[in-house]
Amino acid sequence: MLLSLAFLAYFHVETMSEGRQQSANKVTFRKVPTWLYLALVALLVTRTYLWVNRTTSVTYHPVDMLLYEAGVHHETYMQEASDSKTLKQAVMNYRNRYGQHPPPGFDHWYEYATARNSVVVDRYDSIHNDLLPFYALSPEDIRQRTWALISNPWNDVAGLSVRGGKVEISPSVKPTHRWMLDGLVAMISPFAEHLPDMDLGFNLNDECRVAVPFEDAEPMRESGRQFGSAQKIAASSFSLDRADQWSAIPEEPSGETPLMELSWRRTFYEFGSIGCPPSSPARTERLWNTGRLCTSCSSPHSLGAYLANWTLAGNVCHQPDLANLHGIFLSPAAFKATHELYPIFSQSKTHGFNDILYPSAWNYMDKAKYDPSLDHPDPPFARKNASIFWRGATSEGVSPGSVSSGGAWKGMTRQRFVHLTHNPSNAVPGEQPILLSNPPTDSKDKHTYTTLPLSTLTRLTRTDVQIVESIARCGGQDCEAQAAEFAPLVPPTDFQDHWEYGFLLDLDGAGFSGRFLPFLRSNSLPFKAGVFREWWDDRVTPWLHFVPLDVRGQGFWATLIYFAGMHGEVDGVKWNVHGHGRKAMRLADKGREWAEKALRKEDAEIYFFRLLLEWGRLTDDRRDELGFKVG
Ligand SMILES: *[C@@H]1O[C@H](CO)[C@@H](O)[C@H](O)[C@H]1NC(C)=O
Ligand SMILES: *[C@@H]1O[C@H](CO)[C@@H](O)[C@H](O)[C@H]1NC(C)=O
Repeated sequence: MLLSLAFLAYFHVETMSEGRQQSANKVTFRKVPTWLYLALVALLVTRTYLWVNRTTSVTYHPVDMLLYEAGVHHETYMQEASDSKTLKQAVMNYRNRYGQHPPPGFDHWYEYATARNSVVVDRYDSIHNDLLPFYALSPEDIRQRTWALISNPWNDVAGLSVRGGKVEISPSVKPTHRWMLDGLVAMISPFAEHLPDMDLGFNLNDECRVAVPFEDAEPMRESGRQFGSAQKIAASSFSLDRADQWSAIPEEPSGETPLMELSWRRTFYEFGSIGCPPSSPARTERLWNTGRLCTSCSSPHSLGAYLANWTLAGNVCHQPDLANLHGIFLSPAAFKATHELYPIFSQSKTHGFNDILYPSAWNYMDKAKYDPSLDHPDPPFARKNASIFWRGATSEGVSPGSVSSGGAWKGMTRQRFVHLTHNPSNAVPGEQPILLSNPPTDSKDKHTYTTLPLSTLTRLTRTDVQIVESIARCGGQDCEAQAAEFAPLVPPTDFQDHWEYGFLLDLDGAGFSGRFLPFLRSNSLPFKAGVFREWWDDRVTPWLHFVPLDVRGQGFWATLIYFAGMHGEVDGVKWNVHGHGRKAMRLADKGREWAEKALRKEDAEIYFFRLLLEWGRLTDDRRDELGFKVG
């Protein structure tokens, strides 16, 4: 078995105990009810058993606790997100939350958002965090850097200009990306009349671009935090002379670039982890043994075999092993990047990048749409095929098959998950822990972790996870090796076929997920593994709206079996593990309801509107004096 693929079949019991202890310290005292807390203590006591044999028992199911916590988290989120009932309250909440005055035009934004029934009024932390370091640059500097990006098409950064309340696309945008710019214009136009004159640079690639080393970025963020204290509001509208301050975009490419071309190379050490504190494992440790699961990497965000903290799981700093576990870090298809703080608006990014997130036009333009019909119905959850379903390409990164980076595909998330669900002939060391219920008389422990070989798991569960058509983004021997490993490749399916299946897998590709939002809208339950984060990340609650999976894949079976169960006979042993269909259905419903409320096209506009007002202020020479005040 291939080394790095074997990796994901391996699981060490340590994870189960360590993760639990962490989360016991952090979480339980605040919001978990007493019965769960006691259960958790019991759980820690059982830790000693871990070393006796390779199983462990628990008196409650960790997923039950995660489901409970998710509900509490969402309630708290809602209280924070939609506290304000009037403009005045919204201004006050803004000032309390972000330590500054809202930007000019905030009243128009508020009106726009409330007229469209936005459930999120007060909480836009990702905008705030993305923009913080830019306060360290002067408005003049930001304008100049924007020009440097959009004046040279080689940069793959397309320009949009706002002038007199109208949005226009800068010259020389690649025809293949035209839809994206058209989508941006469509998304911005409804509120463009309230935006100041400015130019904006949009990342045409999927991969994120800007990673300022922590040592430089932290003082820059500090200037952002200080901004509010220097504010003396003298004007509530943007400067009028802005149009001329943005240098014209030349018809001929400027030929200069601040970006480095680093495609098809390892990026983790130079870029992926550079935003982490210098002492963090991601910057100090080099893990070469990809055949073993790094439990210290996964345990901080895990509870037993399950992913417990999606936010923390997105933080690469404690996860040096990610260097070998994702296409963006192993060998991205396109990577023109910089360590300087250049303003690039991107659809997604991994932790530590300084790109500015904006709502992708992909969903706005219905490039992948939730659109069931008579031919492709979306039946109620209970009537769906209980398989977990995925179709996709090997497009996460490039596996060029060269001497220096041959076999890069073995570490990529998509390939590893496909491998995981295919029936490997060799079942050793394919041991995956799953939590089984004990018979009532067995002991007071209700569940026991048991390891089963992959070959058994793939026969007892229903999975349909396949690579479509042909191996993409490969070279030389890496094409043949993948074609052999993943055979047979299947024909492409209609996107609307998805709704047939109860469980929909969403795996990171080269960047943002085009399909997650449509998945959420359906009666099916999405499972998601990935390191890329998008604009909606903090408004969607894992274990309430979707099921989170670790990119390592070690909890895949345990998680799937919790919901889907496991039935059948292997080598004379009968298995009949009950799933939790009703809970799965409840989550699918919650996700759908939430997507209809908080992840509509209107919500993308509202997010974008607020982001661009903030950006308008940041690029205004009088930004210290600009703000919105009531009365
Ligand atoms: C997840 O981790 C983040 C960052 O460490 C922390 O702030 C948050 O409270 C954690 N959430 C839960 C539910 O434990
Ligand atoms: C469910 O989906 C699986 C995988 O695609 C397929 O093999 C199976 O035949 C389907 N079952 C039914 C009842 O349609």
